[in-house]
Amino acid sequence: MDGAVDGDVLLVGCGNMGRAMLQGWLAAELVRPECVYVVEPSAALRNLAGALGVRTYAAAAALEPGLSPRIVVLAVKPQAITDVLPSYRPHVRGCVVISIAAGIPVSALEAGLGEIAAIRAMPNTPAAIGKGSTVLFANDRTRPEQVEQATMLLSACGAVHHVEQESLIDAATAVSGSGPAYVFHFIECLADAGQRLGLPPETALALARETVAGAGALAMSSDTPPDELRRQVTSPGGTTEAALAVLMEDSAMRTLLISAANAAHRRAADLAAPTTPA
Ligand SMILES: NC(=O)c1ccc[n+]([C@@H]2O[C@H](COP(=O)([O-])OP(=O)(O)OC[C@H]3O[C@@H](n4cnc5c(N)ncnc54)[C@H](OP(=O)(O)O)[C@@H]3O)[C@@H](O)[C@H]2O)c1
Repeated sequence: MDGAVDGDVLLVGCGNMGRAMLQGWLAAELVRPECVYVVEPSAALRNLAGALGVRTYAAAAALEPGLSPRIVVLAVKPQAITDVLPSYRPHVRGCVVISIAAGIPVSALEAGLGEIAAIRAMPNTPAAIGKGSTVLFANDRTRPEQVEQATMLLSACGAVHHVEQESLIDAATAVSGSGPAYVFHFIECLADAGQRLGLPPETALALARETVAGAGALAMSSDTPPDELRRQVTSPGGTTEAALAVLMEDSAMRTLLISAANAAHRRAADLAAPTTPA
């Protein structure tokens, strides 16, 4: 397997994001199933992972004591991470640890695991269909080839962007990590508006979904900036202009999204607080 991970991969937590990433790695043949070790307490989720051909374990204590993976991926909830870390200390020497836990700083990973090469990554759920956006930050102990391998793994789920400042991971969380939920809510609201104008519910929902998917694909299909795309579909005195006058009055939509992203950003800081050394 050219361009594959050279060694074992240990995935801790195989819920929504963990499984989405695992499926992406296997589909892209970046890892061989027999080289992937998955720790997941839920029997149902372990079975789903096991069906993909990987090795599964209910807890860290069940792993082979000598297991020394090339990459460890932490995909448990931020609230669980402090409890989880110490049991992986025996397995992280010489590897790179990638954590996708929102808000958990590298300092917290080091507090639990010791001096490690650590990468904080923020993926999003379109990763499940290979259309994700992941932002990553690597600490100073991470060697260039480790960053390269981590980037390769995360690329199986979509685009990967690097940031040089760790604080920007929380900014990315507020935009792309939580962002799909904002878009899903936009679809709900647009469908609701369609229903109120008399469309049958299923037609309104189909139109809202297709419009968001189609406009997103159009926005990705060229370098034309979104404000220009907007102007192209806004005829003077037309229907779109009438709607945009409402959305853009006093920067209404911009202000709302900035407030929403700020709330997500503050929450990321709150999640970090209990584990950040004073
Ligand atoms: N979902 C997103 O959109 C998204 C986006 C970006 C980043 N993230 C990050 O991704 C991480 C996972 O999120 P998720 O949505 O995938 O959550 P999830 O579906 O709840 O998955 C987490 C999994 O970890 C398992 N787990 C709990 N304790 C464990 C332990 N000690 N060892 C191994 N596994 C353990 C959980 O099992 P139990 O349910 O049995 O406890 C659960 O199956 C979070 O830190 C989140 O911040 C998520």
